Amino acid sequence: MKVLVIGSNGQLGWELCRGGQERGFDIAALDLPEFDITDSTEVKKAVSQANVSLVINAAAYTAVDKAESKSALAFAVNRDGPAYVASSCTELGIPLIHISTDYVFDGNKKGAYSEIDPVTPLGVYGKSKAAGEMEVKGYLHEHIILRTAWLYGMHGHNFVKIMLRLGREKETLRVVDDQYGCPTYAADLAEAILAIADQINEGGNILWGTYHYCGQGVTTWRGFAEKIFNLASEHYSLMVKKVVPITTAEYPTPAKRPINSVLDCSLITKHFDIRPRLWQESLADMLNRYYQHESHIP
Ligand SMILES: NC(=O)c1ccc[n+]([C@@H]2O[C@H](COP(=O)([O-])OP(=O)(O)OC[C@H]3O[C@@H](n4cnc5c(N)ncnc54)[C@H](OP(=O)(O)O)[C@@H]3O)[C@@H](O)[C@H]2O)c1
Repeated sequence: MKVLVIGSNGQLGWELCRGGQERGFDIAALDLPEFDITDSTEVKKAVSQANVSLVINAAAYTAVDKAESKSALAFAVNRDGPAYVASSCTELGIPLIHISTDYVFDGNKKGAYSEIDPVTPLGVYGKSKAAGEMEVKGYLHEHIILRTAWLYGMHGHNFVKIMLRLGREKETLRVVDDQYGCPTYAADLAEAILAIADQINEGGNILWGTYHYCGQGVTTWRGFAEKIFNLASEHYSLMVKKVVPITTAEYPTPAKRPINSVLDCSLITKHFDIRPRLWQESLADMLNRYYQHESHIP
């Protein structure tokens, strides 16, 4: 099966290309600077020329705080880009797996968010991603919108890598302890997406629509940081001795973040037999890989 991965240099895109090749998919990859998802003509031409059976869109403007002052760019990448991709897929008669986010929710729900909960984003990033979902749904029936949360991986910038750096530089760190979520390893998410791709390829009865996928179990950023240091200290000598829990109010950011980012993943298990792993297990795997290959991963 030939698959086009858009956003191939991102955390998720990188794992999709690696995992896709391992599964024997013929992967075509697109990203900046050669390919710009905000250019409708370029998108139409590139998707058509790729000559694939499935498109996966992992490209996004993910700078949550910067998006507050770069609204036009966030909407161009996160709303207009997916619209161009989805309309190209419609013209070519091919399905699309599009990645979205927990930030489409405001975080005020008690308990995990399900796919049918109303979308109520707090900031520009969440609003632009919610608008992208609407475009995909509007243009294309054969779509999977996969919402994830708290993504980290080997490649690219993420919370785990920031903590690993700070843990070598500082004895005490103050980390937010009143936002709840589910850390998600990009390699696990890529595997879940590729498992769906396999099922599409096999021509089974696909229930198109919106699904949630994130690591199993819930923590706070403070809990996540503690586990990172706990596991990383098995590989490397860290300076950090103390993680001080702080509130969101004590760490002001330009974009407001959901207090509760927990996603209910039971639907993807029911329809695709995909079961997320415990987030701590995945983090241990990522750190093992990271310390084996650290010098090679940008
Ligand atoms: N990161 C998270 O914590 C998180 C949480 C929930 C959901 N998600 C969603 O998961 C998906 C993957 O996220 P990620 O963390 O892998 O993102 P990422 O690392 O920021 O990767 C996104 C990729 O898209 C590219 N891109 C940006 N603008 C583009 C444009 N105009 N044309 C083509 N490509 C463009 C980026 O290139 P540059 O780097 O050069 O800009 C980057 O390679 C996204 O849909 C995101 O919204 C992420």
